[in-house]
Amino acid sequence: MRKTIQIAASILSADFSHLGDQVKQALEAGVRWIHVDIMDGHFVPNLSMGSQVVRSLRPIADKFGALLHVHLMVEEPERYLADFVRAGANSVSVHVETCPHLHRTIQEIRALGARSGVALNPATPLAALEEILTEVDFVLVMSVEPGFGGQDFIPSSLDKIVRLRRMLSERGLDQVQIAVDGGIHAQTAGPVARAGATVLVAGSAIFNAHASVTDNLRELRAAIGEGKTGLQL
Ligand code: DX5
Ligand code: ZN
Repeated sequence: MRKTIQIAASILSADFSHLGDQVKQALEAGVRWIHVDIMDGHFVPNLSMGSQVVRSLRPIADKFGALLHVHLMVEEPERYLADFVRAGANSVSVHVETCPHLHRTIQEIRALGARSGVALNPATPLAALEEILTEVDFVLVMSVEPGFGGQDFIPSSLDKIVRLRRMLSERGLDQVQIAVDGGIHAQTAGPVARAGATVLVAGSAIFNAHASVTDNLRELRAAIGEGKTGLQL
């Protein structure tokens, strides 16, 4: 199957004293998904940022026609959906582990006018998605335990991505995107793309002190064999 692979830049590893500039560099280098990690110190053992960051990035993203994706790693995510969509999120993913009424939460995201995603922790089985797959625009497969950037890719995630792609295609849901989040860098990007992911979320591989954002993105794209805006596999 031919499909386009997108790189999503996770700002968690960006230099927050120059956040606008860092995001602009990624956009100028062709990135069209900006991934914003929201952490509450309860569901995950870390704190990050709130909806004001989405609001500040919205005009920058608009200049490039880019999407802002909010990854909610918080308990009771339904309390914050309207806030983030009003701030400018194009898509919102909630963790299946945090949502006892997942169907309702997903419907709420869509009713607010955003694309809906469900995120799965590494140890959460794909079976948790069976009853909800027809309702979502994308699945966010966590390939590290959520909470921190710069962790190592969990190798068993590859098989999980392959099985999820198969599950989607058996149900005629090939349009559902598979985003993979955590430990994506030049060594893991190729195998993850080949396993069936359509969005690769990368934070520390893009925003780090070793090289420029542009060079890092070039290296990532080379690893998955991509051109400037999309890749035909
Ligand atoms: C982790 C976050 C990720 C994080 C990925 O909880 O959800 O989006 O930024 O960071 P890297 O790419 O450094 O693994
Ligand atoms: Zn994330």
